[in-house]
Order: sequence, then structure tokens, then C-alpha cells
Amino acid sequence: MSPTAATASPQTPGHTLPHEHNRSGASTPSRPLRPVHGRGFSVQLTGYDKHLPGDDLEQLRLDIQHNAVRLNLGGLFTCPELVRAALAPRDDRRPTVLDIGTGSGAWAVDMSKEFPHCDVVGMDLVEPKAGQSGNGLPSNCQLDVGDANTYVNLQPEASFDVIHKRSAEPGISDFHGFLYDCARTLRPGGVLLLATGSPQIYDRQRNPFPVVDEGETGFTHTQRTFGAVYEASLKTGNYNVHHAFLWDDWIRDNPNFEHIEARFDYVPLGEYELDMPAAKKEAAHKMRVAFSQILNSFKPMLVLGGMDQDTADAWVQASIEELSHPETFPEGYVRWRYTTAIRKDTPFIARTDPSAPVDHSKLRIVVPKTSGAPFFSD
Ligand SMILES: C[S@@+](CC[C@H](N)C(=O)[O-])C[C@H]1O[C@@H](n2cnc3c(N)ncnc32)[C@H](O)[C@@H]1O
Repeated sequence: MSPTAATASPQTPGHTLPHEHNRSGASTPSRPLRPVHGRGFSVQLTGYDKHLPGDDLEQLRLDIQHNAVRLNLGGLFTCPELVRAALAPRDDRRPTVLDIGTGSGAWAVDMSKEFPHCDVVGMDLVEPKAGQSGNGLPSNCQLDVGDANTYVNLQPEASFDVIHKRSAEPGISDFHGFLYDCARTLRPGGVLLLATGSPQIYDRQRNPFPVVDEGETGFTHTQRTFGAVYEASLKTGNYNVHHAFLWDDWIRDNPNFEHIEARFDYVPLGEYELDMPAAKKEAAHKMRVAFSQILNSFKPMLVLGGMDQDTADAWVQASIEELSHPETFPEGYVRWRYTTAIRKDTPFIARTDPSAPVDHSKLRIVVPKTSGAPFFSD
């Protein structure tokens, strides 16, 4: 994606690293929020403006979710040996990390603490909570406000050793091109980390709960509400939610990447095993809280997608009530998808063609009861 005149003028970022300042594409930190059905949303029209809010309540939820995911995974990233090699201390410069769509800034802050010899830059459409004055941001962490659709491409070539993006894909319009932007901006040998969670519950055998009607076997309010949230994404025109299905193939086709590894991590929503380690129990508890809270955060999108406010309130309330009784809720897991790729040690090859058009009718994140073979919902 090429820089546009509208976003190319650099302004002062919220926090300046000793080694970096006025990063291109960063704007003033206090960006206003737009009210949508009782919540504050980004004013930037990226698709995320109709997806989830960027207000304080949502950023508090993101902190809880971040800790659930970290505890379940046992760390901040997959393929730790690759990340640690890319970030090994060196004499010539400080290794640098970019976190795209950093949200509250929790991952960026934790990375800056785990790697004090590195500089960590987090960026988001809205000002991250961790960057607000008085929050004691580590001196090796900078948080910028900007739009990843242009920001990444505005950074100098080969300027980051690790690029991380978790759950920001609904706001990235051309993810195929974004992967080229990341490849250009990563140093040869650098690591790309992609992650996302799914608004879909899985059973112990890792099969998705289908959306079934009230009164039928297997009905849960929570799965029905997530089904409605997903339909609302599509009704509001945000097909970017499907990028997670496609990015592994797009990375494999990208001549700049190698050593691609993809895996899932399933975070339990309850204490299903007697000998569950303490960290997993805590992850389960936090994931359930974050899962309940995201339903409230998705309410405006349900209404934007055509549901009346009273129904949205009732469905969300019933789901939250259900999740607050894990002893009666069926055994369920939230799936997190992780993909790691290494930037090849060769000169950057720019994109020549955009991706082939995607048939979104063949992709399903949330599975209706009638679904079967025609849908790709791996
Ligand atoms: C679900 S939150 C995840 C936040 C964080 N990565 C985490 O995992 O805790 C997605 C974040 O991506 C941000 N985002 C979405 N589209 C973006 C874009 N085009 N540029 C920058 N940030 C974006 C949103 O503002 C939001 O804070």
C-alpha cells in the first residue's frame, strides 16, 4: 500500500524513545472517539470503525484478554527460539519490535520489560491506555497513534526485527498488501508474528459449537450471540474478519518469507481438568471475563447490523449470565490462531499483483447448524 498525502505528514508521537522520534505516519496521541450506540469508536474509517470500540472500557477488556492469552500460551509469542534469536543483544544497534494494532499497549509493554535491551513501538488507531500520561510507560517503549494501512509502509525499509499483529485484521483493508509492507519493513532474518482469536466456541474435540435455535439440543445463548455478531460483521460490510483464513496461504505465496509455522492454542472457558495447572485456571477465568465483556463491546455492531437495541441488550445479557455460571456452561474453548514467518535474507521483492478475488461465501468463522462441507471453517 503506498503512502497517501493525507497520512504522510509526521507529527509528534505520544512518547519518544531515546533512539527514535517523530515516526512517520504517527499523529498526535489524543485522537477523538466517535459515539456509536453508547460506546466510543475510532474516527478512522478502516472497517474497525464499525467493529469494536476503542474506549477505556474496551481497553480494560483487552488487558484481561491479553493476560488470558499470555497465561495459556505460556508467553508472549509462539516459536520463542526464533523470536529470541531475532532480538538477541548486539553491539551495533538496539533490536526493535513493532506491535500493530496494540490496543491497550499491554503486549508492547510486556515485550519492552522482557527485552529491556530492545526498543518496542506499539501503534493503534486510538491512543493506547498504557501511553496515557501517568501510566509509567517503560523508557524503551513508544506508543504511536496511526493507521496500519499506511503507517507500516511509511517506516524505513528493514527497520524492525520483529513485527507482531494480534486481532487487528478487521481494520486492515488489503491484508495481502499489508504482508508485503511487513516484509519490506522487517529486517532480513526478522520475525513476523500474526495472531487472532475467533468469536466461536469449540468443544473438547476441537469441533466448533454450531449455532442452534433456542430449545434445541446444544443451544447456548453465548454461541447464538457470537453467531449474530459474525453475521453483523458481514452485514456491515466488514469481510476483513476473514483475513485470518487466508493469511497462511498469502504468506506462503509471498516470496519474501520462509519457515512459516501455524498453530492453534485453545483457551478453556472453565476448569475442565482436575489437574489443570494454576496458570491455565487463571487463563480460563480471565478468558471467560474477557469473553463476557466483548459481548457488551459488540453490542453497537449488532445494532449497526440491523438488530433492535432491546434484542441486542437481551441476548448479550443472557449470554453474560450464562458465562457467569461455568459449572452449568458446556465445556468450551476459545481458539487462537498463531502464524510465524521469517523474513528471508534476500533483497525485498515488491508485490506485482494483488491477491485473487476471495469468495467470501465459502468462508465461515461461526458455524450455523446447517453447515457442512461447503464451508471452509478449519
Ligand atoms: C481486538 S483489538 C487487539 C489489541 C491488541 N493487539 C491485543 O491483542 O490486545 C484490535 C486493535 O486493533 C486496532 N486496529 C484496527 N485496525 C487498525 C488499523 N488500521 N491501524 C491501527 N490499529 C488498528 C484497533 O483499534 C484495536 O485496538
